[in-house]
Amino acid sequence: MGASLPALFRRPAILWAALAAALTAAVVAVLLVVPGNGTAGADYRDASLPIDERVADLLNRMTLEEKIGQMTQVAVPAIETFPRHIGELGIGSLLNGGSEALRDTPEEWAAMIDGYQREALDSRLGIPLMYGVDAVHGNTAIPGAVVFPHNIGLGAAHDPELAGRAAAVTAEETRAAGIHWTFAPCVCVARDSRWGRTYESYGEDPGLAFEYAAPVVQGYQGDDLAANTSVLATAKHYVGDGATAYGSSTTEEYLLDQGVATLTEDELRAIHLAPFREAVDAGVGSVMVSYSSNDLGDGPVKAHADGYLLTQVLKGELGFEGFVVSDWQGVDQISGDYAEAVRTAINAGVDMVMVPFEYQDFITTLLTEVEEGRVGENRIDDAVARILTQKFALGLFEHPFADTTGAADVGSPEHRDVAREAAAASQVLLRNEDDLLPLTGDESIYLAGSGADSLGRQLGGWSGSWQGTAEAVNEGTSILAGIEQVAPDAALTYSEDASEPVGGADVGIVVVAEDPYAEGVGDVGAGEHDMLVSEADAAAVETVCGAVDCVVIVVSGRPIELEPHLTGVDALVAAWLPGSEGAGVADPLFGLTPYDGRLPVSWPRLVADEPLNVGDDGYDPLFPYGFGLETA
Ligand code: BGC
Ligand code: BGC
Repeated sequence: MGASLPALFRRPAILWAALAAALTAAVVAVLLVVPGNGTAGADYRDASLPIDERVADLLNRMTLEEKIGQMTQVAVPAIETFPRHIGELGIGSLLNGGSEALRDTPEEWAAMIDGYQREALDSRLGIPLMYGVDAVHGNTAIPGAVVFPHNIGLGAAHDPELAGRAAAVTAEETRAAGIHWTFAPCVCVARDSRWGRTYESYGEDPGLAFEYAAPVVQGYQGDDLAANTSVLATAKHYVGDGATAYGSSTTEEYLLDQGVATLTEDELRAIHLAPFREAVDAGVGSVMVSYSSNDLGDGPVKAHADGYLLTQVLKGELGFEGFVVSDWQGVDQISGDYAEAVRTAINAGVDMVMVPFEYQDFITTLLTEVEEGRVGENRIDDAVARILTQKFALGLFEHPFADTTGAADVGSPEHRDVAREAAAASQVLLRNEDDLLPLTGDESIYLAGSGADSLGRQLGGWSGSWQGTAEAVNEGTSILAGIEQVAPDAALTYSEDASEPVGGADVGIVVVAEDPYAEGVGDVGAGEHDMLVSEADAAAVETVCGAVDCVVIVVSGRPIELEPHLTGVDALVAAWLPGSEGAGVADPLFGLTPYDGRLPVSWPRLVADEPLNVGDDGYDPLFPYGFGLETA
């Protein structure tokens, strides 16, 4: 101690004391204004403790307002101008919806989500938020991500293990972008192909969703949700969404979607509930409620208001320990009286509400309902405990920010190979006169039809946007490009409308297609999607198949009415919505892989024959459920 020390250290003791007091005050002030930090030693921050202890500790520290914040899920467009609300209100979750707030690269996604995460951490208790997207057949929110066949194609492949691998790739491509949660799989059982969501279903037979549920949930969630390759999965839509009657919907122009399912409880359980049991047993972290209603004999009850099905059956009987999330504005449909709608949904067992816009309204409404005793605090505690449990399992308290290690692999050749394999396995050969297929690859081929060179039609809805578009936003290979890749020696003439002369070709291929759609917009009768071959495609089939041996490939989310167009058609293939890898459609066409897919839905003669399901009285389909020819 001496002259060499700075002046400060030579001050009298009184000054030292003052300095210490000032420092203490500063530290306290920092702890107060840097929220979350004050809880550094808290049990909930201790990763070595079991999750239930951490949840209990955290719940104990939370105010009612903070708890309700955790139960609130907001769409990015509603929060992006007020990001401070995330921390101030303790918002528990964000989503982007099918079309909103899309970013181009995994890094841009991660940066956006990390920005919101900072706001969440900047709250009194520093509870991280959980971000969700509809990565229902690949993380199509990223243009460069691989896109898998929609579920109906995976169902046609009759290969749950392959569907599980597809889910694992999707999980990697989703988590690498900083996204924690996918609203998939739909374990819905589509019983009427006029439903615009038929392609989100693995098929009409509950056995399919039943077999796929567990491997797909495991594919998404992995062995450890905290891994940078896992995402939280969602079994949806609970329950009976695929059972609604034609004309029963009251949403916009919809006919089936969001409508009423009239069936016995035994039927509901056997056909629609069974796959959820599998998903729950596989440890699915969340279940999304269906917009639809079930009428089990006592009149229609909205699934969002159904305490029997949500609480007694799902959480009680099935033992579901994850959390129940509402569908987008689904709670609003319960009643015109918003307070009644909120109260009913929460009391029925909804844990998190996908508001998604008027979050302040939701928060104040639920707060009042609890304060006035119409919603019990124990219900709130149960909901929040369920949500926090998944956040801890996701490792968000330890690693709240994106780990973009996997970003370089988004859309990688290895991932695309899995999608190609899935597309090839999902092809169903419905007719093959004189063993026209497989082709040798040395032919001169005439290619036509609206699906031949349209990546967008091949992807379908929920691809880069909610409804999807004929002009794809996502990267990939069209069927035309896939044929060129698989059969480089074929002499190919392409004319979408078959206006080029056909004569001289060895074989014609006409790819007829549905235009993309999603949800009730795709209900037959709701608008422009009608399960019929378009006039242009019908004309192309007539021209090409009238002139040469021909193959018709159907790109669609469900069966379409084909019978009037089959004259002169030698081979017929259902390609479903095969995704970004057109080469997968070409593989069995040229014998690189066998055709061994089988119909996951009955193929009706006429649209008017729907609903048509195997086992129905007078069952007379064009092609029955399970049909599919095989090639070597
Ligand atoms: C759909 C859900 C979807 C949600 C979020 C709803 O309209 O019914 O399947 O997960 O939107 O985009
Ligand atoms: C969103 C979808 C949502 C739909 C519901 C769209 O704007 O992008 O995610 O499912 O609205 O109506």
